[in-house]
Amino acid sequence: MALWGGRFSGSASQMFKQVNDSLPFDYVMASEDVTGSIAWSKGLLRAGVLSEDEQQTLQQCLETLQRSIEADNVDFSDSGEEDIHSFVEAYLTQALGDLGRKLHTGRSRNDQVATDFRLWCKRHLNLLKQDIINLLDALLKCANRHDKAIIPGYTHLQRAQPVLFAHWCLAYTEMLKRDISRIDDCIKRLNQSPLGCGALAGTTFEVDRESIAQDLGFDSPCLNSLDAVSDRDFVLELLFCASTGMMHLSRMAEDLIFYNSGEAGFLQLSDAVTSGSSLMPQKKNPDALELMRGKCGRVFGHLQALLVTMKGLPLAYNKDMQEDKEGAFDAVNQYHICLCIGVEVLEGLNLNQERTRQAAQQGYANATELADYLVNKGIPFRTAHDLSGQAVLEAINEACALEELSLTQLQEIHPSIEDDVYAWLELDAVINKRNQLGGTGYDVVTKALYLELENLDKLKSSFSSAT
Ligand code: ARG
Repeated sequence: MALWGGRFSGSASQMFKQVNDSLPFDYVMASEDVTGSIAWSKGLLRAGVLSEDEQQTLQQCLETLQRSIEADNVDFSDSGEEDIHSFVEAYLTQALGDLGRKLHTGRSRNDQVATDFRLWCKRHLNLLKQDIINLLDALLKCANRHDKAIIPGYTHLQRAQPVLFAHWCLAYTEMLKRDISRIDDCIKRLNQSPLGCGALAGTTFEVDRESIAQDLGFDSPCLNSLDAVSDRDFVLELLFCASTGMMHLSRMAEDLIFYNSGEAGFLQLSDAVTSGSSLMPQKKNPDALELMRGKCGRVFGHLQALLVTMKGLPLAYNKDMQEDKEGAFDAVNQYHICLCIGVEVLEGLNLNQERTRQAAQQGYANATELADYLVNKGIPFRTAHDLSGQAVLEAINEACALEELSLTQLQEIHPSIEDDVYAWLELDAVINKRNQLGGTGYDVVTKALYLELENLDKLKSSFSSAT
């Protein structure tokens, strides 16, 4: 039965129930609703609304329900209840009669849903953090497995300068680290308790909101009841975390799809994360990566959808806000799936190091070196750039690499060029000259990799002690 029947003489239409009921999707917050209800029962005890015995009985009944939820033993499907809050209350009332009907004293579904959803978001942000840590782990292992491999680095998808493959891995490491810190920030801001704010104006019962917040693991209570029940910034921030994280995964996927293409031929993906074609027997398609890229659309869409839903809402709660959940649930699920499949992709990835080395040597990716060489001979960089361009043009005409031009040819371009230029143009030298912080030199990348492995250990242990 609806929680609000008293003032109605007619019943809701089937169509209205279909549009209004959220139980078909908000049942996933059942555990949070029970946790919030236990904390509220303690608040009512402290406020003198419930006796010690009553609170104990309610708590035991809620704990029984919690165990069934954890064991996946609750059937939410044919209760006919409107939402998870009505479901839990109906359960209590069925089990405990009038005592069950006391729990909602001073509480509204408005502060209840805001509390449940904050708890749900916090739990899932922490799970996502663990997923990102796993991907970081796979990325650093992949870098370690290929620590000497060189690939072409691109700008405008044109071969630009060679880089270590490990340097590429460390670029995504930086993004993943920022994704973790973005989640930490999001958790910091959402970590306030709306419970005790009632429908919008607070409650007349003397519940101690500080201790309720503490019981629920929040840092503090929300400070304004109107804001507490109508704020969904935390959902938007979660969606932004998921969107930015997915965008990073998508860029990584795009790089790998290209490296895996027949044209590049830089790597093989394992059979575990690829599929074939129903028509063309030779095909091995990078589906996992394409889905990491493709799923961004719906996740970004959920962020956009909620921004639009929220933008015109007057204070305080409006039913529009019930639309906050399905997008967030889906975004979290898709992001989780992509982080997990990303691990499998990286674990099974095999770089064709001869091929990448060869590709890194093509495309005049060492033209900057020639310019830098000339700068070292005292020539202004702009002139050196121009001279190196002339050398590239000559090599293109001769259909050879820069280092295949003879010394005479190079000296015609500039007389200061000597025999030592060939050592400068050599691939490993090109890499090794970039040993400044953040560069792609072997030494600096080896050191960065070592530091990141240390960071990862710290992250892993701080995470397991925090959860
Ligand atoms: N199912 C509702 C939601 O998710 C719970 C809050 C209902 N509040 C109300 N005033 N009808 O938003």
